[in-house]
Amino acid sequence: MSQLTDEISRRRTFAIISHPDAGKTTLTEKLLLFGGAIHIAGAVKSNKIKKTATSDWMEIEKQRGISVATSVMGFEYDGYKINILDTPGHQDFAEDTFRTLTAVDSVIIVVDVAKGVEQQTRRLMEVCRMRNTPVIIFVNKLDREGRDPFDILDELEQELKINVRPLSWPINIGAKFKGVYNIYEHSLDLFTPDKQKITERVEIESLEDSRIDNAIGETDAAKLREDLELIDGVYPEFNVNEYLEGKVAPVFFGSALNTFGVKELLDCFVKIAPSPRPIDAEERQVKPVEDGFSGFVFKIHANMDPNHRSCIAFVKVCSGKFERNAPYRHIRSGKTLKFAAPTAFMAQRKNIVDEAFPGDIVGIPDTGNFKIGDTLTSSETLHFKGLPSFSPEMFKYIENTDPMKSKQLEKGIQQLMDEGVAQLFINQFNGRKLIGTVGQLQFEVIQYRLLHEYGAQCRWEPISLYKACWIESDNPVALENFKRRKHQFMAIDREGRDVFLADSGYVLQMAQNDFPDIKFHFVSEF
Ligand code: G4P
Repeated sequence: MSQLTDEISRRRTFAIISHPDAGKTTLTEKLLLFGGAIHIAGAVKSNKIKKTATSDWMEIEKQRGISVATSVMGFEYDGYKINILDTPGHQDFAEDTFRTLTAVDSVIIVVDVAKGVEQQTRRLMEVCRMRNTPVIIFVNKLDREGRDPFDILDELEQELKINVRPLSWPINIGAKFKGVYNIYEHSLDLFTPDKQKITERVEIESLEDSRIDNAIGETDAAKLREDLELIDGVYPEFNVNEYLEGKVAPVFFGSALNTFGVKELLDCFVKIAPSPRPIDAEERQVKPVEDGFSGFVFKIHANMDPNHRSCIAFVKVCSGKFERNAPYRHIRSGKTLKFAAPTAFMAQRKNIVDEAFPGDIVGIPDTGNFKIGDTLTSSETLHFKGLPSFSPEMFKYIENTDPMKSKQLEKGIQQLMDEGVAQLFINQFNGRKLIGTVGQLQFEVIQYRLLHEYGAQCRWEPISLYKACWIESDNPVALENFKRRKHQFMAIDREGRDVFLADSGYVLQMAQNDFPDIKFHFVSEF
């Protein structure tokens, strides 16, 4: 195998997603411990700040600083190079999270056994489904009282709209939790409530082995055999290809806090999870093994220091080898750029790297050249697809309050939109600028950053809107007719595309019923 193929096949780039508090930080930390990337539990806990006083913008600023460090966590495990991409946990960061999912090859979903599937997980799963991203589910907190595991499986199927297949099975739950039967490896893992100790494994020959009865008692052993029989009857055998196609999600049970079930999850993950996959560009499909380098910017992190408007652009390497100081084409501007100080993220430290391979993320210091979605290549003209914006759910008119600073405001708005902080629409009826976000907090962030980074002052004016959706039609007459009838509710986005501003769910539904020739899109990419 060539070096490139070899490097690609050992890479696993993924994100852990969950509703806040399900245990994402804890699981991430335990994975890093196994990778030897950190040495003490608690090292990732700076993440905790994410949860405190999030309505306060000072906290946002702190979070932005911290999240640079945890944006990408790379480590080596058992010959594999693993890259975990952090997905901001708070609801208000949903847009950023959505976009991070475009840069991963698979995801692990963490679900709290007591709470089941929660709102944010549901939304993130929609993105995974759209992209057929392979998904593994970790049901966490088995050491606490929770729901019946069969009920949890049903809920996962219904709420996440994906078939599931348990690959481990719990023996009791909460105070009586004794461990899991590892269906994937046919072994019995016993639980001891201890944060540092790793799972104790009982080697068994078959499910009938009396060592199971000795380890967990006859009653629980009988129940386990019954459960497993039921599982085999109800769920088809696990098929890796179906997992890779995003059609079935294997499920593991454990307790991240007690490091229980985590190594088993990781061992299975590295074996079955995909290495970097081909990515669609508008021009053609790009395969990771191609010689020519290509990559795209999926995230831009503005620096904390307002005096130097420097950023870090996060580039996902899609094909070929990325090399420091090599000339690369920035497709949107046509410029040739060289990067003297690209950084890789190993074990939470940023280091300058000389090379990177498909699946890796490189951080490129930037002074405003990049926009989300930009492509870099060795020479070929490529535009990668798959960086959709989602129709925002909160809207405000933005008004300038300092007429002397209108240029600064204009520039600030442009740059923040390039960074993907929110979306800008121009209302065609009154010409006013409308900012749409997926979370309330972003308005505060925008106002604060406009003032501190651009010296511009703005004020928000409320508008009651339900959703902004992109519209199109194969029938130009029908489209014109719709726009005329709804002219008070039409806007354009930054690319000049038509957007319908629906002020209620009812209005939107009526419009969908009354205008069958019009297609309504809730994602910018269609
Ligand atoms: P998040 O990143 O998904 O938001 O969740 P995080 O890992 O921070 O975990 C949320 C809370 O759940 C934490 O408690 C954490 O210790 C706890 N937790 C995680 N995994 C398990 C588990 O397997 N069993 C039990 N019983 N608890 C678990 P906290 O009180 O918010 O924080 P801390 O003070 O304990 O650190």
